[in-house]
Amino acid sequence: MGETRLVLGVLVFAVFVDISAGLKCLCGVSMVPLTDPVANPTVITDSCQEADNSEEACLDHGACYGVCHTDGYCFKSIARKDTVIRRTYSCMEPWFPNFWMCRDQKMASTMYTCCSGPDDFCTENENATKITEISFHQTNNFFSSFIRNEDPDRSPLLLILAIAVPIITLALVILISILIYRQCHPRFGYQMVAKPIQNTVVIDLGSSRPLTSSGCMDESQSTLKDMIESTCSGSGAGLPILVQRSIARQVSLLECVGKGRFGEVWRGHWRGESVAVKIFSSRDEKSWFRESEIYQTVMLRHENVLGFIASDNKDEGVVTQLWLVTEYYENGSLFDYLSRSLVGGRQMIRMAISIATGLSHLHMDIIGTQGKPAIAHRDLKSRNILVKKDLSCSIADLGLCVRHNSITDEVDIPINNKVGTKRYMAPELLDESIDEKHFDSWKRADVYSLGLVFWEIARRCSDTPEIQEYQMPYFDVVNSDPSIEEMNQAVCVKKIRPSCPEEWNKNESLKMMTKLMKECWFENPSARLTALRIKKTLGLFAAQGEEGDEKIKAKYIESVNNSSTTT
Ligand SMILES: Nc1ncnc2c1ncn2[C@@H]1O[C@H](COP(=O)(O)OP(=O)(O)O)[C@@H](O)[C@H]1O
Ligand SMILES: [Mg+2]
Repeated sequence: MGETRLVLGVLVFAVFVDISAGLKCLCGVSMVPLTDPVANPTVITDSCQEADNSEEACLDHGACYGVCHTDGYCFKSIARKDTVIRRTYSCMEPWFPNFWMCRDQKMASTMYTCCSGPDDFCTENENATKITEISFHQTNNFFSSFIRNEDPDRSPLLLILAIAVPIITLALVILISILIYRQCHPRFGYQMVAKPIQNTVVIDLGSSRPLTSSGCMDESQSTLKDMIESTCSGSGAGLPILVQRSIARQVSLLECVGKGRFGEVWRGHWRGESVAVKIFSSRDEKSWFRESEIYQTVMLRHENVLGFIASDNKDEGVVTQLWLVTEYYENGSLFDYLSRSLVGGRQMIRMAISIATGLSHLHMDIIGTQGKPAIAHRDLKSRNILVKKDLSCSIADLGLCVRHNSITDEVDIPINNKVGTKRYMAPELLDESIDEKHFDSWKRADVYSLGLVFWEIARRCSDTPEIQEYQMPYFDVVNSDPSIEEMNQAVCVKKIRPSCPEEWNKNESLKMMTKLMKECWFENPSARLTALRIKKTLGLFAAQGEEGDEKIKAKYIESVNNSSTTT
């Protein structure tokens, strides 16, 4: 198209050439077949003058042209059109807009020359004063591509890049926007995929009753509690995977109730019951997998360990939804609870017992076919302990747990001792003196953190005239987000521990708690109490408080006296 327009333009303007002007140029259009370049070319010289003599305007390729005169420029183009090579010669006036004819004529398979002398027929003269010269790139296919003053091989590549880069950029922007939207609105993404699956898996469970043949109840009618208690596995390891997926996909999310290290926790509804849904971002897939795996450890289920319901991952093409569904506790974490409420002395002891009971269950190694490996939590803190309706507590956030293989005496993941929450890290973790391969080291580090949690509870005990506001451990010695170095300086170098007011010794419960917490945070890990010992000591103390039985009281005193030496 562009080429035709150019040739027409040349011929039309050639008509206006002033024949009396100074510069003589070749004039005419010749065509020669590409397949037979030596064939006699056809020459059209309609709007040209005849040359003064035959040599003057006859060129090497065998064509003889006419001539024209101008005060402007001589113009030449050589172009390939399909299987024909066309040469066009003409004159152009000085007022001719050379930016059109002589510049920016970027057309494939065409070469242009515009010159203004100094000699006649300057288009054929090596030393001509050229206004522009645009060369073509000759390949095996002849005139296959064209560029001006550039590496010809880069031209198509640049064209491809010019088209592809904006398209790819646009696609990336759209993709990132979708990802951000999905991250911010997990309900949107999940419910879209949840619906069709409900219709298949869930109906199956109710109608075909796949589990009833083995004596289990009909899940489609059960409450979560029923289902979990009567679960067919009998191992305490959780519901069958299909049931888990089915439950997870019937959950509708209601509100975000917490945020932690690995994502958001939402309150959701399953058949009218509240459940908690911890949503992991897909980059934290390992953490989701790890936490799901730990919750499904045989015999882990315990009233003081957060009740696991289901784990589900759903690949949605763009993002993967990673859900961990657990029981929901409306009081939230112990941190939340203590921040807004006080606890009575008895209540404080009950809370402490439940936490110690949960921790001793985790730490306990149950031997047998349905045995449970010992588990260390590694991130015990008030934010990872949940408060139930009856104000007893459950240990949650098992994502960083390690399990002990009692047969090989190995800890089940490669340990990075920098993973817990710095504020709650035991001195041996802060100064890296911990023996990572020795499983008991991890249990002792948990007990140190437990001591700090006890201190947090004790501060909020209302059985003392000086009630204190809620504070995190070491609030007065480190900043709000302390570094390992800062913690190390306070805990290991200066050997600071949270302060326990004198007042606490005037109340039996607080006195008991003070004694216990101090025995939890000894610098020497092996001198610390075990979770089991703490549980027993507190249990006896509570029983004595409730019943006033002298025998129990004596037993309690004895156990407290022995507590620092017994493990
Ligand atoms: N089952 C639950 N019921 C009520 N609140 C919860 C529940 N699980 C977690 N939360 C809230 O979400 C917060 C973060 O949960 P957590 O499991 O510790 O996540 P992360 O691993 O991201 O730290 C908790 O501190 C608590 O406030
Ligand atoms: Mg947490």
